[in-house]
Amino acid sequence: MPAVLECRDLVRRYPGPNGGVPVLAGVDLALEAGEVVAVLGPSGSGKSTLIHLLAGLDTPDDGEVWWGDLAVHRERPQDLARRRARTLGLVFQNHYLLKELSLLENVMLPGRILGAPDERRARELLERVGVAPRMHAVPGRVSGGERQRAAVARALALEPSVLLADEPTGSLDRSSARAVFELLLELARERRTAVVMVTHDEALVRSVERRYRLDAGRLEPTGAAP
Ligand SMILES: Nc1ncnc2c1ncn2[C@@H]1O[C@H](COP(=O)(O)OP(=O)(O)O)[C@@H](O)[C@H]1O
Ligand SMILES: [Mg+2]
Repeated sequence: MPAVLECRDLVRRYPGPNGGVPVLAGVDLALEAGEVVAVLGPSGSGKSTLIHLLAGLDTPDDGEVWWGDLAVHRERPQDLARRRARTLGLVFQNHYLLKELSLLENVMLPGRILGAPDERRARELLERVGVAPRMHAVPGRVSGGERQRAAVARALALEPSVLLADEPTGSLDRSSARAVFELLLELARERRTAVVMVTHDEALVRSVERRYRLDAGRLEPTGAAP
């Protein structure tokens, strides 16, 4: 089975006081359809940098990123947008919903941008994530948990092969964080969406079998959590 997402020997260094010290110093990762990977690491360890590179939102100094057979590192950023929309779902700590649109309109937005809005799918997803009763409200009028649920629905609206999640529950209290995380996994499982979830919250991802720690710019597999 080919990987739906892969990176090889990924290197990223930022100029500045630490100039030259790579934030990522050779990261390899490959996911097949339906695989779930958790990447742990404290603040500043390079988790967001990794997600941005995997998403083609940033360019590596060295190494490769592949979405299936597409060599992302060779593409021009402006050529990637459509392909990204078709391939990846993204969820961040901040929901990035558009504040003037209802939750329903937000979930329909990726389809609308590609010229194929699908209201039925959007409603169905909002139902699944448990915010259907609030679908006509704007993000500012719903709770943080409801916003993140809607953000998960939006990320899955176009049935991506990969979901990239950067601290998706970082702004939530423990019980909503767990609920949103479980939901994300359940929806991903149904369509064999591969998931890369980065977080500093070890307890949250204890059930994920493939866990890594970002340490000194490299991904180290972690054993069972104590
Ligand atoms: N655009 C940037 N320019 C310079 N340094 C950056 C930039 N983005 C991140 N960094 C630095 O790279 C390191 C890793 O950041 P980041 O990937 O955001 O870590 P994490 O998401 O694990 O908290 C930090 O030291 C951060 O300050
Ligand atoms: Mg981060």
